Amino acid sequence: MRRVRRAANRILVTAALPYANGKIHLGHLAGAYLPADIYVRYQRSMKRDVLFISGSDEHGVPITISAEQEKTTPQAVVDRYHALNKAAFEQFGISFDMYSRTSLPLHHETAREFFLQFHSAGILKEKRERQLYDEKAKMFLPDRYVEGTCPVCQNPEARGDQCERCGTFLNPTELVNPRSKITGETPAVRETTHFYFPLGDYQQQLEEYIKAADARDGWKENVLQYCRSWFKEGLQDRAVTRDLQWGVKVPLRGFEEKVLYVWFDAVLGYISGTKEWAERKGQPELWKEYWCDPSTKYVAFIGKDNIVFHCIVFPAMLMAWNDNSSEQYILPENVPANEFLNFQGQKFSKSRGWGIDVDEFLEEFPPDLLRYTLATNLPESRDADFTWRDFQARTNNELADILGNFINRSLTFAHRTFQGTVPPRGELSALDKELLNQIKAGTIHAGELIDHYRFRDAMLEIMNVARFANKYFNDSEPWKTAKSDPQRCATTIHICLQTIRSLAILFEPILPFSTRKIWTMLNLSGNPLDAGWKTAGELALVEGHALGQPKILFTKIEDEVIQKHLQKLPPTTAQDTSQQRTAIKPTITIDAFKQVDFRIARVLTAERVPKSEKLLKLRVSIGNEERQILAGIAQHYKPENLVGKKIVVVANLAPAKLMGQESQGMLLAASNNDGELSVLTVDADISEGSIVK
Ligand code: 2FM
Ligand code: ZN
Repeated sequence: MRRVRRAANRILVTAALPYANGKIHLGHLAGAYLPADIYVRYQRSMKRDVLFISGSDEHGVPITISAEQEKTTPQAVVDRYHALNKAAFEQFGISFDMYSRTSLPLHHETAREFFLQFHSAGILKEKRERQLYDEKAKMFLPDRYVEGTCPVCQNPEARGDQCERCGTFLNPTELVNPRSKITGETPAVRETTHFYFPLGDYQQQLEEYIKAADARDGWKENVLQYCRSWFKEGLQDRAVTRDLQWGVKVPLRGFEEKVLYVWFDAVLGYISGTKEWAERKGQPELWKEYWCDPSTKYVAFIGKDNIVFHCIVFPAMLMAWNDNSSEQYILPENVPANEFLNFQGQKFSKSRGWGIDVDEFLEEFPPDLLRYTLATNLPESRDADFTWRDFQARTNNELADILGNFINRSLTFAHRTFQGTVPPRGELSALDKELLNQIKAGTIHAGELIDHYRFRDAMLEIMNVARFANKYFNDSEPWKTAKSDPQRCATTIHICLQTIRSLAILFEPILPFSTRKIWTMLNLSGNPLDAGWKTAGELALVEGHALGQPKILFTKIEDEVIQKHLQKLPPTTAQDTSQQRTAIKPTITIDAFKQVDFRIARVLTAERVPKSEKLLKLRVSIGNEERQILAGIAQHYKPENLVGKKIVVVANLAPAKLMGQESQGMLLAASNNDGELSVLTVDADISEGSIVK
């Protein structure tokens, strides 16, 4: 891990402003908002001065299209989604200091100020160009308002910016038989003038900036690669105005019918959002401490589709401003962009009903369950997948069986045996010391991982502390020492209670709601965040402290609940299925097939393989012989439900070692796109060892 050279005490964190024309789904959360929130909560716990800004991106063509479809105004659309999304983020525990919106006058002023400064400094280029014009609607048509036949593949429904069938990027004037999507009329070609920002002029400066920031703060490889490919192609001028009504009006005479391009104003939403926060605090100049003080560290969390705007366009705009003003903005020190999260093996799709919105999810499940599953599976370096089964397994096997179980058994024990108080601590055993060392080391290591944007690994590290604590309880056997050695028992429970406090602090960034409940169960004042990360390793509970009542923290999710959600998914279309399934393999002869010895086997025993989330170890009988078979089905079957089943195995497969254990064959199973898996079983009374052909 590269060192963070600058342990900044003031940190500005922004998370991409989502468009206010749709609801937030799990993919958005995993892309930017959850990692940003974990980072912010950890930094707050480290007692650093952190400001966390986001808000609604309320301009852009898709919003005007939504308004037309819904027969309402763009303002009504953004008002509705702004309120919905703000509430969903709150419910999910995203702890923004400010969730602003770009339709506010303060934002319009900020965006206009940038545009005017660029214009008067002579940075912007004015270009005349030919564009499609709808004579009936009396307006120039944005790319997405034009449809026509693709000149490459003849798709009659190609969009003005791209043909979805063959993927070709298009210019609306290239379409054959173009039609206006507003009136259906054939548009005319007219000349129009637009302003362009000369991105190319900043290429060298941008390359140097990214190189230096990466050297200081360790940028993610996916982000660097993306930037390199843009630099390699060479940066081009980019239009920053559009012929539209909805947006920030261009503040120049003769240009009243034009607005700023949505991305030009959106990135400035971070600045106007900070200004709004400062105004609301009654200190309108305070925003400058976060944007104009070089000792502030700025981290911008986004999803991968926003990389170019945050690593190239926005920094170039800030550079241009800084070249022409005494007010000097800082640039992002890091842009930890995530890849995408899929849902049950496929992309989230509103139109196909594939996925689940956050508000819907939280009507049924507490936010911490989702926060935990997403945090352990963030698409940090490659796309990741959310499945209902994984959600169930993480909740039941980790949150309930490890963390919840440890807390509950320790507190219950303290109530039963020590009248609900913290018992005295005697001399520490080697095992006691080992647990305390694990907590101290885990605290430091998890903190370093979060500082380096490695949230998945940090989650693993923190859950491992809980795992170790649970094992400590088992190995210390307090139920035995309660009679044989009461002092030892008291020390064990004392250490367990201290550990609960430590876990509440370590889990706070991931499980903000549950850790406050833990705090109440310990009868502590304030909350784990106030206590602070650095105190996680301290033995802060005093002997005799009266505890609160233990309550069940995490309720397990039943199979039927998961089943219900899987059944609700729309059937996959032929196209999706063909993407998911691999092609049929080349033809083989009957003789080749006969070489595989399939047999009926009866499952004698089944158990989980220690330290493996996926593997089950089965002992099976194939008639006159017993075999050990390891199979990756632990997330789909409880071991006890397999015993006695007749299954099909490949009996002549070369043995293989998995997790250090030998597998002497393979069982047959099938899985589908939903992540469902079924072991092939035999329902008639076929005797074990029978040949399958
Ligand atoms: O991709 C999106 O949802 C954009 N609305 C993100 C904007 S981020 C920032 F620039 F405002
Ligand atoms: Zn095409």
